[in-house]
Amino acid sequence: MKKLLVFALAILAMVGRVRADEGMWLPMFVERLNYVDMQKMGLQLTPEELYSINHSSLKDAIVGLGSEPKPRGFFCTGEIVSEKGLLFTNHHCGYSAIQKLSSVEHDYLKDGFWAKNFSEELPAPEMTASFLIRMEDVTKDILGVVTDDMDWQARNKAISAKIKELENAASEDGKYNPVIKGFFEGNEYYMFVYQVYTDVRLVGVANSSIGKFGGDTDNWMWPRHTGDFSIFRVYADKDGKPAAYSKDNVPLVPKHHLPISLDGVKQDDFTMIWGFPGSTERYMSSYGIDYNVDTFYPIIIDVFGKELEVMDEFMQKDDAINLMYADNHAGLANTWKNFIGQCTMLRKNKVSEAKVTLENRFKQWVNESTARKAEYGEVLPNLKKAYEDMAGVAKSLFYPNFIAQVGPVGLSSAFTGYYMAATGDDKDLKAAAAMELQAMDIDGMFAETNPQVEHKMFAEMLKLYRNAFKAEELPEFYSKVIDKKFKGDIDAFADYVYANSIFATPESMKAFIANPKAKKMEKDYAFQISQQLTEVLMQAAPAYRKANTTVQENDHLFVKGLREYYADKQPNKSLYPDANSTMRMSYGSVQDYMPADAVHYDYVCTANGILEKYVPGDYEFDAPKHLIELIEKKDFGPYANENGDLIVCFLSTNDITGGNSGSPIMNGKGELIGLAFDGNWEAMSGDVNFEPRLQRTINVDARYVLFIIDKYAGATNLIDELDIRKSEPQPIREEEE
Ligand code: ARG
Repeated sequence: MKKLLVFALAILAMVGRVRADEGMWLPMFVERLNYVDMQKMGLQLTPEELYSINHSSLKDAIVGLGSEPKPRGFFCTGEIVSEKGLLFTNHHCGYSAIQKLSSVEHDYLKDGFWAKNFSEELPAPEMTASFLIRMEDVTKDILGVVTDDMDWQARNKAISAKIKELENAASEDGKYNPVIKGFFEGNEYYMFVYQVYTDVRLVGVANSSIGKFGGDTDNWMWPRHTGDFSIFRVYADKDGKPAAYSKDNVPLVPKHHLPISLDGVKQDDFTMIWGFPGSTERYMSSYGIDYNVDTFYPIIIDVFGKELEVMDEFMQKDDAINLMYADNHAGLANTWKNFIGQCTMLRKNKVSEAKVTLENRFKQWVNESTARKAEYGEVLPNLKKAYEDMAGVAKSLFYPNFIAQVGPVGLSSAFTGYYMAATGDDKDLKAAAAMELQAMDIDGMFAETNPQVEHKMFAEMLKLYRNAFKAEELPEFYSKVIDKKFKGDIDAFADYVYANSIFATPESMKAFIANPKAKKMEKDYAFQISQQLTEVLMQAAPAYRKANTTVQENDHLFVKGLREYYADKQPNKSLYPDANSTMRMSYGSVQDYMPADAVHYDYVCTANGILEKYVPGDYEFDAPKHLIELIEKKDFGPYANENGDLIVCFLSTNDITGGNSGSPIMNGKGELIGLAFDGNWEAMSGDVNFEPRLQRTINVDARYVLFIIDKYAGATNLIDELDIRKSEPQPIREEEE
């Protein structure tokens, strides 16, 4: 036996380091492209058990979470975990729905929510659950409509028309939601046929001080102690078909649900993640990277950073404002920090340099043949030029775009239609436009905003804009109004606008509508700003649009060329398409990492870390008393590991991105061992280039999820419903000799 063990270990040492890691693969091709590899790494299921269109398979438990009845993409992923349609996803994925269900009196973000039975479950506004029925290659049909004489625009038009036609044909009169998407920059097309359930209900969620523990300070970082999960349920009509919300609907009986494993993770364990990654740019040129890092991201970081600062000031001292802006703030904060991380890590990990190396090899390969030179010779110079053109106008496009949406400026733009009609010659049109004003939902326009926050935001955004441009580049209202009439004092100017503008309050707006006059609008500072910013934006837009089209067209060619290049130079390399919010599978293993010289990060973290980070009353690091007590007493029930510790999160090498949030991470048996919820700081460049040494997925451990449900929330009704498994301990030791 010992010999056998040694032999087995030797084999493990040989294959144990097979690293798939990189790649978000289409499940349809698992057998051809990945299966052998996955099996070597520890997968125990058959290809048919993973993806089948004839029998139930693992893919049937994977759900795309959308915000519409016919979504074309998904903001997050969920997985079905019971025979009664119970669904797990991340806390930050349920966040928006939970906010909408909350009030200051019943603040489920702050206090959590646990339904004791079906009747207490709360219909989640706007959340839909899409199940993939099948996918198919439609490249031939789609590209069949493209002819050599078409330019890029004509080509896109023809393709869009064909996509509509095929989607309509596959919808079976609205029974399904078929979505066709381009892959490899429009070099391939696949159709995904979904069944969409629109009755989704909130079942359970812990306090944000568990589900968002660590807040934005810990976001995108390891070590992480966030219980990032929430629980929903999918409902269907009596026949199991999708149906709009009705009290007669019943819990969905799914084709497949994921069992949950209590076995936990060890280093090198096989892991796979299935879900709906939103977007990556793995084939982006060095020029695109430089444009993002030097021009585009800094603008967004500047604008979002200021918006967040203003929101933070009010949110942290007022519960009602905190709830009102919660979702908006979380989204901005997430992107803001992501872009800062990308700027830093794309440089630090020398991603642009790596792309230049590839581009040089590509150029050399292109120059080896006249045919290739004719097809691809101009691709890289075109991309270089187009990104330079974009960089030339980016500031004049994005700054006005954001500032024009702020407070009274943004609201005034809803009256542009009236203004145009009122200053035109057509009397009927003018009368009709005045009538339309009457129908506007004025209170709705101010709902979910706080006047104090908006007022401050307005002033701060005008300051930000002034700082971003030279004096002579600023729109007229800076010199003519702010400087001349308010001595450059933007706060005083903002106070004036809030006291006098038509668009500052519901009352002033209603008074205007009662007696509308184009002249009044002309004199209104908020409307003047809106018009002047729109003017700046309109001037920049054509050049930007043209450059953007050039980028798309040449990215298409570049990827076409790269695929030929790889086929020629590295015929054994399988290429995977960029993420585009379609179902993907990624496999890898549980691994630690070394983020810097002499620093070693473990692949698991424990509840002790919650005690270490805990700051009572803090906006980000507070934690519920009951949780702290359970941890202090080590009262973890069956969810502790063999040392009596509670694992909170763990790391794996799976290749994921935003949209994968909420995805199941599974062991070789297809059992749930956690939920993927984030990436790590050192590999924030990962959407552009996978970094095997550094890139990790951060997962919340299934045992922590169960611990919170069971020991913390006492929701034993849910524990009873789940399919929880623990494998018999392997008697390896007893068998030796
Ligand atoms: N970084 C996570 C993702 O993009 C979202 C985490 C949300 N949490 C937060 N503190 N904003 O999937």
